[in-house]
Amino acid sequence: MSLLDLAAYQRDGFAVLEGFLPLSDCDALQERAAELVAALDVDAARRIFSPRDQGHARDRYFLESGAAVRFFFEEEATDQPARLALNKIGHALHDLDPVFDRISRRSRLADLAHVLGLVRPLLLQSMYLFKQPWIGAEVGWHQDAAYLHTRPSTVIGFWIALDDADRDNGCLMALPGGHRGPLRQRFLRDGDRAVLRTLDAAPWPNVEPVALEARRGTLVILHGLLPHASAPNRSSRPRHAYAVHLIDGRADYPADNWLQRPDLPLRGFT
Ligand code: FE2
Repeated sequence: MSLLDLAAYQRDGFAVLEGFLPLSDCDALQERAAELVAALDVDAARRIFSPRDQGHARDRYFLESGAAVRFFFEEEATDQPARLALNKIGHALHDLDPVFDRISRRSRLADLAHVLGLVRPLLLQSMYLFKQPWIGAEVGWHQDAAYLHTRPSTVIGFWIALDDADRDNGCLMALPGGHRGPLRQRFLRDGDRAVLRTLDAAPWPNVEPVALEARRGTLVILHGLLPHASAPNRSSRPRHAYAVHLIDGRADYPADNWLQRPDLPLRGFT
């Protein structure tokens, strides 16, 4: 297992730790996701979720998903079965599903959160990302702090490859050092809608994007201000991943963040 080089993380805004998650945990997450999908009432849940289209933002289904386990479909999905048509499951798997809870709270992840400077880490959001063969959608350049904002910014993403991820099936892309720039946007709750507001029109830094290729079981740590993206998956191979986002409970969590959990208090690693 590769160890965290903290200086490199602070310089680049990301770190790639190969072999971080045991393959037995990767198996458990994939099997559990398959069970959840098999039990899904497809007609009730089939709503188009597009990372490129903010149309979903008006949907209560999405706004309530911060405290639920909900299923979002690929925009390009037509007649595929649900297991091949889903974009993601989110956003409280880590609290509401026992398998995701157990693996999200592995002591190795808690130790890492501590090393990364989170004094009172809280697991805020989790997503099972499918990036399906052929139709897995592009995710455009963004900063996670736009979606999960604290003052000061403390959000950190733990992204775990559950399949080998490479350039062909839409691995993560990042702009090294870009986390030192400003927060460009915020995704806000405005009544029963969510809106994306521009805070700073600064362009993304003019640096060469790097492909964060990751074998199964690799953990990618993403600083909340790091600009990152992923290409569409036009290959025949899936690119499943599991992402958990953490914040520091010492920071202020604004009431206008889209993700609100009035009836489900945030928890740390215990
Ligand atoms: Fe992201």
